[in-house]
Amino acid sequence: MSLELVKRYSAPVPRYTSYPTAPHFSPDVGPDTYGTWLAALPPGVRLSIYLHIPFCDSLCWYCGCCTKAVRRYDPVAEYLTSLQAEISGIAQRLPIGHAVTHIHWGGGSPNILSSEDITRLAEAQRRHFRVRDDAEFAVEIDPRGFDEERIAAFARAGVTRVSLGVQDFDPKVQAAINRHQSFEETQRAAEAFRTHGVDAINVDLVYGLPHQTRSTIKHTVERVLELRPDRIAAFGYAHLPTRLKHQRLISSATLPGAVERFGQASRIARVLARAGYVRVGLDHYALPGDPLASGVLARNFQGYTTDTADTLLGLGASAIGRLPQGYVQNHASTAEYARRIGEGGLATARGIALTEADEMRGFVIERLMCDLAFPARELRLRYGSASEEILREAQALLQADQDHLIEPDGEAFRVTDRGRPFVRSIAACFDSYFDATARHAPGV
Ligand SMILES: C[S@@+](CC[C@H](N)C(=O)[O-])C[C@H]1O[C@@H](n2cnc3c(N)ncnc32)[C@H](O)[C@@H]1O
Ligand code: SF4
Repeated sequence: MSLELVKRYSAPVPRYTSYPTAPHFSPDVGPDTYGTWLAALPPGVRLSIYLHIPFCDSLCWYCGCCTKAVRRYDPVAEYLTSLQAEISGIAQRLPIGHAVTHIHWGGGSPNILSSEDITRLAEAQRRHFRVRDDAEFAVEIDPRGFDEERIAAFARAGVTRVSLGVQDFDPKVQAAINRHQSFEETQRAAEAFRTHGVDAINVDLVYGLPHQTRSTIKHTVERVLELRPDRIAAFGYAHLPTRLKHQRLISSATLPGAVERFGQASRIARVLARAGYVRVGLDHYALPGDPLASGVLARNFQGYTTDTADTLLGLGASAIGRLPQGYVQNHASTAEYARRIGEGGLATARGIALTEADEMRGFVIERLMCDLAFPARELRLRYGSASEEILREAQALLQADQDHLIEPDGEAFRVTDRGRPFVRSIAACFDSYFDATARHAPGV
């Protein structure tokens, strides 16, 4: 791969976990609009639930998630009271016969919850929502200092999949990101989950962190392979210090540049391919038998998923939901969130109503990110003549491509192996909101 190519396509672009992306949400969509959208959900709607726990024991300096470090448990307990009230309030607005097919607890660190609260929250969830017996129940876990009692509580609560945060095992990298985590404690967490019957294990890695090199990363990946996770996500570090104050504790001088980042991502891909993992979309890897490697792939705020529910309900501070009519996001401040819920209302801070053009472009971008192909046929089937303009754009892009990032495929194109690392930049060509001057994660 030429260095020129990497430099050319390393300009910042969104990660496209939604379209339009969250910076385009506005306060015009508030609790009233969300209430109307919920009331219009059809009977029997298939639901996915995202539940946000915005607390951690300590703050990792690279962290881009909505969370805060707490020393005492009181704020967590208070937050759970609001969360349970929100669960009950939202459930009352749902149509009869809804079916929850997928649950995700993210954060922050959901394993900051006491084992009693894990049980209580999962019970509230099952009491208020109609959760299908075969629903997937995934939880994000920080393996540091994690105890067996909580692992058992998650297993009893019906958790079926856990994502263990690793990032990097190198001590110098760990010191620079304020995250000290041994391989042994990570292994203990993975083994304990398996012992308690939670077999589906994901591991999160990050490349592009301070002091990381291809060889530290290779070592981390080899250690992770000893755990034989079903899925591995390898995210490129998004360094946005103007927006996230704690990231200013990471000196930019210690960060690998675009070419090195690209080398690190390629090294991860090579080591995992050799170990038998199937590459999924841009940055996920799965064992061949895993549903992600063979099932219908979708993209949401948690990255790649097999979850294809019609509607995603976001619960908790900062949580984002997606309904047929558009996106909604709750207040990120836990105080404001608690106040809104305490008043008996919805905690929606902003959102966006989707136009037909948004839906169409969102569909194209999601399929590009998932299948690495422009979905010409489905686009015509779904949107008819309204899709002409975007089909013309696809042809124009094909003609303009000098670097063989895409190649013709029927009426449109697919992304080549050479183009795969730049799929976000290819997707950005169909993003009518895209602003190259806005702050995004690096392109590679
Ligand atoms: C909510 S966090 C993780 C769960 C848990 N709190 C932990 O740290 O182990 C989800 C994942 O997002 C990724 N992540 C967080 N901040 C990031 C950033 N600035 N850039 C890229 N990935 C990031 C990390 O891989 C992290 O494991
Ligand atoms: S990476 Fe995980 S543990 Fe670290 S601050 Fe972010 S959410 Fe908390």
